[in-house]
Amino acid sequence: MVFIKLEKINKTFFPGSNREHHALRNIDLDIQEGEFITIVGGNGAGKSTLLNAISGNFIIDSGKITINNNNVTLNPEHKRAKYISRVFQNPSQGTAPRMTVAENMALAYRRGQKRTLSSGITKENKEFFKEQLATLGLGLESRLDSEIGLLSGGQRQAISLLMATMKTPDLLLLDEHTSALDPKTQKTIMELTDKLISEKNITALMITHNIQDALKYGNRLIVLNQGEIVRDYNKEEKDKLKLIDIYNILENVNS
Ligand SMILES: Nc1ncnc2c1ncn2[C@@H]1O[C@H](COP(=O)(O)OP(=O)(O)OP(=O)(O)O)[C@@H](O)[C@H]1O
Ligand SMILES: [Mg+2]
Repeated sequence: MVFIKLEKINKTFFPGSNREHHALRNIDLDIQEGEFITIVGGNGAGKSTLLNAISGNFIIDSGKITINNNNVTLNPEHKRAKYISRVFQNPSQGTAPRMTVAENMALAYRRGQKRTLSSGITKENKEFFKEQLATLGLGLESRLDSEIGLLSGGQRQAISLLMATMKTPDLLLLDEHTSALDPKTQKTIMELTDKLISEKNITALMITHNIQDALKYGNRLIVLNQGEIVRDYNKEEKDKLKLIDIYNILENVNS
């Protein structure tokens, strides 16, 4: 079943000015439920813009976006938030730094629900968050009452991932979410990402400049160039690809 459908999506920044840039060009993309798609492409190819279009960061100039049979094309970002979770490149984006780990998790847990004054954190909530943190295997269950801004980038990304998936989203968007981390932590977070996505069968789009990760993880690979999808490999084709193939493609499309 097609779960997310992008039809002829276009976005031009600064139209009519000398900075005019056609960032997304007639993008057509059908995403099946449970697909984990990795996205590669050079700087400025339009990868983040594509995720921004889906999450409703801006309204597209033309085209149609459907999520689970809901036409969300004209919905503002907050109205799409019930379908979509996102983890960004910068560990400080997406969490409230002066709030504790438990408070941040409570906000994520109540995503899509009406917030009321009485929505304090119950003992049961805390126990649940503790259990969830323990599944990360990083000892973070003892940090429930720490301000999240005091944790390391890797610890924050691990919690961000947990928050993004605690309530299984229809769609998970990852924009270079490991790129600000050291190599060892990158590996930990990437393995955790894969585990969460496959355990919960989450439909996901992951942008990465790490070609090795793009090949190793996920079951479909897309190459973006100048606002267009120039390659789209299914699992079988992707499994046959080698690093050099992707480097060659990226080299050639940019020239
Ligand atoms: N909000 C915006 N306003 C104006 N121009 C934008 C905006 N967002 C993106 N662009 C432009 O659109 C083009 C694509 O940008 P985008 O951020 O999608 O690239 P990217 O593929 O994510 O690159 P990177 O690998 O560097 O993150 C760039 O030329 C960028 O300057
Ligand atoms: Mg980007």
